[in-house]
Amino acid sequence: MPRKQEGRGLASYTAELKTKDKLLASIHKISSLLTRTISLDKILTSIVKETSLVFGFTRLAIFLADKDRCLLECRYIHGFNPEDSERALRFPYRLDDHDCVETRVAKVGKTVFVKDYQNDPRATSIDLKVSRIMHRVSTIAVPLKIKKDIIGLITADKDDIKLKLTRKDIDAFSTFANQASIIIENARLQEQNQKKIKQLLTLQTISKKTSSTFNLEKLLNAISASALKITKASSCTLFLLEEESKQLKIASQNGYGHLDAENFRLKVGEGIVGWVAQSGMPLLVSDVRQEPRYLEIIEGVASQLAVPLISEKRVLGVLNIDSRNRAAFSEDDLKLLLIFAGHTASLIKNVRLYGQVITERNFREDILESSPNSVVSINLKKEISSINRRTEELFHLKRGQVLGRKAAEVFEADITQIINLALDHHAVVDSQEIKKIGNDGSVTTLGITSSLLKNHQRNLIGAMVIIRDLTEEKKTEELIRRMDRLSSLGQLSAGIAHEIRNPLTSINFNVQLLAKKLVMTEATRNLIDDTQEGIDRIRILVKGMLDFSKPSRPCLKSDSILRVLQDSIALLDSQLKKNSVAVALEVQEALPEVIFDAHQIQQVFVNLLLNGMEAMAEGGRISIASRLEQDARTQSEYLLLHFTDDGPGISRENLSKVFNPFFTTKADGTGLGLSIVHKILEQHNASVDVCSAEGKGTTFILRFPIHRTEEKRCIDTES
Ligand SMILES: Nc1ncnc2c1ncn2[C@@H]1O[C@H](COP(=O)(O)OP(=O)(O)O)[C@@H](O)[C@H]1O
Ligand SMILES: [Mg+2]
Repeated sequence: MPRKQEGRGLASYTAELKTKDKLLASIHKISSLLTRTISLDKILTSIVKETSLVFGFTRLAIFLADKDRCLLECRYIHGFNPEDSERALRFPYRLDDHDCVETRVAKVGKTVFVKDYQNDPRATSIDLKVSRIMHRVSTIAVPLKIKKDIIGLITADKDDIKLKLTRKDIDAFSTFANQASIIIENARLQEQNQKKIKQLLTLQTISKKTSSTFNLEKLLNAISASALKITKASSCTLFLLEEESKQLKIASQNGYGHLDAENFRLKVGEGIVGWVAQSGMPLLVSDVRQEPRYLEIIEGVASQLAVPLISEKRVLGVLNIDSRNRAAFSEDDLKLLLIFAGHTASLIKNVRLYGQVITERNFREDILESSPNSVVSINLKKEISSINRRTEELFHLKRGQVLGRKAAEVFEADITQIINLALDHHAVVDSQEIKKIGNDGSVTTLGITSSLLKNHQRNLIGAMVIIRDLTEEKKTEELIRRMDRLSSLGQLSAGIAHEIRNPLTSINFNVQLLAKKLVMTEATRNLIDDTQEGIDRIRILVKGMLDFSKPSRPCLKSDSILRVLQDSIALLDSQLKKNSVAVALEVQEALPEVIFDAHQIQQVFVNLLLNGMEAMAEGGRISIASRLEQDARTQSEYLLLHFTDDGPGISRENLSKVFNPFFTTKADGTGLGLSIVHKILEQHNASVDVCSAEGKGTTFILRFPIHRTEEKRCIDTES
């Protein structure tokens, strides 16, 4: 008996040793996996495999407890059919609500062996239900512990077959589980670290990506998409707070369940998101059904996590993620999302600041662009760094072609000189006038003001010139001056003419009487002739003075300018021929309708032709050309007549005086011709201008307004 007993003992002893050996080998094998970076997944799979080998289990499941959320989740499973696996992995046990072998082991930390569920008084309704579904007869459930902490449990069985386990088998499996729990915990920590590293890396990539964009919409979309990715939520919505209305508006949404972002508004304080915006605190809701603050916005949400976007103590909005699964988010997710929200808030602030800066800059640029003056800035290298629209117009430039070029290559010497003065000697000018001669000989008067450009540190960074086109201003000034002189001289001359006319009549009469009474010698005759000639000249002058001071009011009617021109030329034909002056009439055949007094305008043409002829003592050519012009601003149309001769021209000094009454350079001139021309044209609402340079001939430009309407009237015929 004892021998037999001894024999049996030896056999079981050897078997036990063998089992232990296998077990040790397995543990060794699994531990060695840990020295390499390996996923928890792989370790658990190999644990499942090894224990099946040692204990002959066909099915094995590892549950891990999540204390925060009071859940017991089946994380790894081996040997179950796919349908059962899916079910086991999807439905976690709730530690507080579900009473079954698994939750009991996880709570108490003791191994439980159920040989036969059907006949075990410990089996609860849940146990029985699960057994039925899973075709389970018995289970060994061993806690996984780290020191005193229960991290989960391993359950094993042989499907449909009762487990036959000795006390020793159970002990051995428990020992194995103890070892395994260390391995699992290590692997889990490692995995958690890796997850964190991965999340941080994602965060870093997002920061990099988002920091480079200043488009708020794009940025917020990138953020909500990333939040969805790093938390594995089912949807993410980013709300921004509208300051005035105190309402939250959807700025971006990702995932399922899209809302009408245009019209959807959430009041501060309303729902979980509203509460977060109001309190400035994050909120993690594992089960929205049990949360009184929950407000259904999207259907099918089971859990929700919302964090505020705070910058400088102000809530800018709320980053919210939802899941269709209960308890989908952990404290870790909350922490991560908070980091993320901090980053997002500062990005939003930056983008808004940037937007403000851009608006301010655009505003300043708009002012510059709309300026009626040309504004040019030049850097220290004397290169053009900016010009405005008016500069393009005034100098006929294109911005793209001059930016970066030396100012001296673009602007004329006068302007370059002012720029050099500013940059080299820090000397600025104020409204300095310069004249610019265009290709067509037209003269533009510019007023230039320069200033030094300094940065915030008061260092010189360049110069700026403001150029004002003074041409029109100058013309008006000149016209006013001319009219002033004309009117005062007109009054004066009218008086003088009257005073002279009466005595002149008696002088003339007396001289004629004397001529009859005197005995004429050769010398007396010459004397009398000279006197008579002098009297005639005075009479012409007096008539001119009276014409000028009191020209009859024009009788305006629509007439043919061309005909009057032809008449005037015909009138002077013999004189012109005598002086070898040819007249070329180059006007268009069909001139537009102009309203004028034919008699007075003929006087104008004759005066201009005579002046041209008188200027060309050696003979020459006078051309008369016409042109149409439209005022860009008023849209009014004008007929221009150019009287051009190739005479000696007028000196710069005299140019401003030719319209003055009595200004003449001729020995026998009256100096009244052009004054009368001016006066007549003025009464026609027309104008006269002169363009001339010494040695280059002279052009008189007449400018008549064109009346498109049938406006035929004769104002006055008073003589
Ligand atoms: N076509 C011209 N070429 C050169 N000088 C001119 C011309 N027309 C006018 N002038 C100058 O303007 C002055 C004034 O002309 P005007 O008023 O007609 O008086 P007058 O012909 O009696 O001198 C002239 O003396 C002459 O110096
Ligand atoms: Mg004259």
